Amino acid sequence: MEQYAIKGGNPLVGEVEIGGAKNAALAILAAATMTDETVLIENLPDVRDTKVLIQAMESIGVIVNRIDRHTVKINASHIHDLTIEDDYIKKIRASYYLLGALLGKYRKAEVSLPGGCNIGLRPIDQHIKGFRALGANVRIEHGLIITEAEELRGNHIYLDVVSVGATINVMMAAAMATGKTTIENAAKEPHVVDLANFLNSMGADIKGAGTDVIRIKGVSKLHGSEYTIIPDQIEAGTFMFAAAVTKGDVTVKNVIPKHLESISAKLLEIGCEVEESDDAVRVVAAKPLGHTHVKTLPYPGFPTDMQPQIVVALGLSTGTSIVTESIFENRFKYVDELTRMGANIKVEGNTAIIDGAERYTGASITAPDLRAGAALVIAGLAAEGVSVVDDIKFIERGYEDFHIKLQSLGAQIDKVNTERELQKFKLKVG
Ligand code: UD1
Repeated sequence: MEQYAIKGGNPLVGEVEIGGAKNAALAILAAATMTDETVLIENLPDVRDTKVLIQAMESIGVIVNRIDRHTVKINASHIHDLTIEDDYIKKIRASYYLLGALLGKYRKAEVSLPGGCNIGLRPIDQHIKGFRALGANVRIEHGLIITEAEELRGNHIYLDVVSVGATINVMMAAAMATGKTTIENAAKEPHVVDLANFLNSMGADIKGAGTDVIRIKGVSKLHGSEYTIIPDQIEAGTFMFAAAVTKGDVTVKNVIPKHLESISAKLLEIGCEVEESDDAVRVVAAKPLGHTHVKTLPYPGFPTDMQPQIVVALGLSTGTSIVTESIFENRFKYVDELTRMGANIKVEGNTAIIDGAERYTGASITAPDLRAGAALVIAGLAAEGVSVVDDIKFIERGYEDFHIKLQSLGAQIDKVNTERELQKFKLKVG
């Protein structure tokens, strides 16, 4: 089983290039199936989630040509099946974006109901409510969500919770419905805007993405397009916090600083220097980290996908911090692992109370999910001694060449496959 072996203690220093946004890519790949013409997508991150979604698309007849590592050409003119199988949805929840895309284009789609996920309950009632409002019949049979419509008609839809997934799914279906749709209380995340821009580049008529009211005039056909995916806000934020916890000096390049504002604001609050330029942000951690309080919120609030990374940093700060998780109820599972490295954290419901420790010490730890896994790697980089992180397949879902990028900043980290390789790493790092 592949693991990361890490020897902590080196400040990360240098520049790192941020890839395309995984969460935007998943929506855009699914939306690319909505035209029979060819679509070219650039800046596609080469991570496990995008690979799995591409496989799911190929399984129903979509032709995907890889031009290079980050560019694909997609042609969906020969789709022969509207059912996405269990296997794909088990591996990646976002396969359910094919529901909205195929419902919009073919008026029918069947996707296995996504199962439980390890960051808490993740209902899809708002997706279903949105499809029904557009006139689709939605039923659940034999573990499948089956949605079909004779005609999709635009409607006024108020989402009861701000949901990225529901906003994206409903936006795709409504883009090809008859008439006008308004989505109120829509998610405002950068990837929602990126999807709207992509659909508009294919001939859709979507306005207001990035605000909480999205207005869509349905069109009967979408055409081919060439599109570049936005940079990944969470990958960038993860490297920014890696700089903070290792007392480093890191510039994340190819980013949109505006998307990183809530992250930069917290880094400033805990005593880091943050310098923004047009498409880069530099984080310098020259002073001991201070404490702060954080509550995760929908964009533009502090992202839940950055919650484990900031907890790792606050775990090494002076003073007491309170972190409240308001999006997913079960997102502190990694705290036990962090405690084994010396963190003083008490979790009560959706709140973590963190008493800053002087240091972390290396330990064998397991990545419980994607973002917490990345956060534990950062903790290992700050810790004294060697850490071994298991289950890195979760991290590889969303970070391309994570250890290679960290190595380029001076981190002592290797991917190891066997006990022998681990011993070799330990000998190498002394
Ligand atoms: C997306 C991101 C994920 C991020 C999350 C919040 C992708 C592929 N994943 O997940 O990385 O952590 O946004 O920024 O983009 N909810 C309902 N009913 C629904 C849908 C959601 O009650 O029908 C609730 C959820 O349980 C959660 C909240 O709404 O409490 C937000 O979830 P949502 O924004 O939908 O998250 P995802 O789209 O699953």
